[in-house]
Amino acid sequence: MNFDQIINRRGTYSNKWDDMHSSYGVSPDDGLAMWVADMDFQSPDCVQHAVKKMLDHGIYGYSSGTFPYEEAVCCWLRNRHGWAIEPDWIDTTTGLSNAIALVLDTFSKPGDRVVLFSPVYHAFKKVVLAAGREITVCPLEKVDNQYKMNFSAYDEVMTGQEKIALLCSPHNPGGRVWTQAELRETGEFCRKHDLLLVSDEIHQDLVFPGHKHIPFPVAAPEFVDRLIVLSSASKTFNLAGTHTGQVIIPDQDLRKQFKKRISELSLGRNDFGVAMTTAAYSPEGAAWLDKLVCYLDGNRKLFDAGVNGIAGVSSMPMGATYLSWVDFSQTGLSQEEVATRIYQQAKIAANAGETFGKGGELHVRFNTGTSRELIRDAVTRLERAFVN
Ligand SMILES: Cc1ncc(COP(=O)(O)O)c(C=O)c1O
Repeated sequence: MNFDQIINRRGTYSNKWDDMHSSYGVSPDDGLAMWVADMDFQSPDCVQHAVKKMLDHGIYGYSSGTFPYEEAVCCWLRNRHGWAIEPDWIDTTTGLSNAIALVLDTFSKPGDRVVLFSPVYHAFKKVVLAAGREITVCPLEKVDNQYKMNFSAYDEVMTGQEKIALLCSPHNPGGRVWTQAELRETGEFCRKHDLLLVSDEIHQDLVFPGHKHIPFPVAAPEFVDRLIVLSSASKTFNLAGTHTGQVIIPDQDLRKQFKKRISELSLGRNDFGVAMTTAAYSPEGAAWLDKLVCYLDGNRKLFDAGVNGIAGVSSMPMGATYLSWVDFSQTGLSQEEVATRIYQQAKIAANAGETFGKGGELHVRFNTGTSRELIRDAVTRLERAFVN
């Protein structure tokens, strides 16, 4: 693997590279794509071989239930994260946005409220509202440039109509890795308000040295009767286009309800996604991931050093993910001026912070899952755009 290699994704129907003009007015000819959360790296060889094997065989019929996919997911979660699960706890969905939609559909009804710890991954809001549910915002607080929860303040905003809390662990944006104490407190809050807790752990593998992701059920096993964990190999191994994710439900009653709904909707899984996930969740995949995390750590340091040198600009130190959260509020510029400088002057397509909800104003999310050279280029562009 060579993460330094620049692979041109323009003209490949890439959402990140080919849609940046329609979304941000940034031309793909000389612009940099730092928005959509996928990486500019090829997936590891073990994944490429799995796909090639399927292509060489050339028959894409129904696969057998004996395919060792659930086993691979169980091994990965046990070996990598210390969480022992049963294969039967896993349901496979068309990615995790779909998983959230299915969970809302199964466990709530239109008009119910869903708790979001905001600012948070923008699609949470989109999926909740599209399902006809309402949002109760529990604002994260910035303490020493890190997001913290404040559950006594959250008690005050609860209306009694909340049915589900959607946690992002590790957090996107900004990469906060929640501690065991924080996860326990989240569980207690959910118990107090009788909420089903959905812990989206899609970023669980992209954790930097000095931090440790704890799966929610490992951190706070006393709450598994109200817990659903979402997992996927898609961020870790750059497989987002496979739209394959896992809904993992330890509690038998909740699991039964969810499986019933999946069956009613006749939902099946995509064999390419299943085969690629199985191949990724292997010792070869793990070795690749270790190198990836080192590389992303280097990107993070370079990016932070660059942007934090710009007057009034500060990035949140990331414990995980490649989704840097940068605060422009001390530049003295308006949100529109910040946007103009980033999109028109620096020619970087990056996510506007306000789309992540309350607290995202005057912030921008930059995807650092790319080659070092592009990170250097991005820093130079930002330095020039924000000089004076
Ligand atoms: C926290 C989180 N959940 C879910 C998703 C989307 O997952 P999928 O592509 O499987 O729908 C993302 C993508 O960025 C994410 O950051």
